Amino acid sequence: MAYKEKIDMSRLPVHIAVIMDGNGRWAQQRGYDRIVGHQNGVTSVRETTEAAAEIGIKYLTLYAFSTENWGRPKQEVDALMELLVDTIEKETPTLNKNNVRLRAIGDLSRLPEGAENKLRNCLKQTETNTGLNLVLALSYSARWEITAAAQAMCRDARDGRLNPDDITDRVVASYLDTRDMPDPDLLIRTSGEQRISNFLLWQLAYTELYFTETHWPDFRKENFYQAIYEYQQRERRFGK
Ligand code: FPP
Repeated sequence: MAYKEKIDMSRLPVHIAVIMDGNGRWAQQRGYDRIVGHQNGVTSVRETTEAAAEIGIKYLTLYAFSTENWGRPKQEVDALMELLVDTIEKETPTLNKNNVRLRAIGDLSRLPEGAENKLRNCLKQTETNTGLNLVLALSYSARWEITAAAQAMCRDARDGRLNPDDITDRVVASYLDTRDMPDPDLLIRTSGEQRISNFLLWQLAYTELYFTETHWPDFRKENFYQAIYEYQQRERRFGK
C-alpha cells in the first residue's frame, strides 16, 4: 500500500522542516558538476511542496541556503542564487494558483540586491494566500537568528521597551524570524548525515527527527509520505 494511504489524516504534523542534503554527492556520483545536483533538486522541491499541499500540511520550511553556504566557491554560490531566484520567480504563478504563501527566513540583506528585490516581489505576490506556508530559509543559520534576536532584545531593554525580568521563552520566540509560526513537528534530513547543521536550533527543541539515505534530487512524494507515516508511529512526550 502506498504510504499516502497509510497516513492518519487526523494526526498530521502541522509544520515539517527539511534539510535538503546530497545534491552535490548525487551529481558527483553521476560525473556531473555539483550545480546539476541543485538543478535536479528543484524537481524534489516541487514534488515535496505538492505533496504537502495535497494533504493539507500548513507549514513546510526548506533549508535552501545557509549562512555557511556563502563560503562555497563563488561559481557555485552564484549559480545556486540564480537557480533559487529564477525558480521562485517561475513558480510564483503556480504557488498563487494553489493558494500557497511563500515566506522567507534568514538574513535577506546579504542576498545580491537584484535577487533580494525579486524575492521580495514574489513574497508580496503570495502574501494573502491562506493554504500551505512554504517557508524558504535563505542565508539562514540558527546562531545568526538567535544572535540577532539577542541584539534586538538588548536594544529594546536599553530603550525601555522591554523589562529583562519579563523575558520568558515566549518572548525570546517572538524575536525570532519564525515568530508567527508553530515549531516544527517533524524534521527530515536527506542523504544520510545525522546532524542539525545550524538549522532552527531553538524551534527544534521537541521536534521528531527523521533521517533518510535518499539524496535530495531523488526525494519524491512517496519519500515525504513515508517520513510522515514513520513520524506517526512515534510517541511524542515533550519531556513529560
Ligand atoms: C545541499 O546539498 C543543498 C543545498 C545547499 C541547496 C538546496 C537548493 C536547491 C534544492 C535548489 C532549489 C531550491 C528552491 C527552494 C527553489 P549539498 O550541495 O550540500 O550536497 P552534498 O552534501 O552532497 O555536497
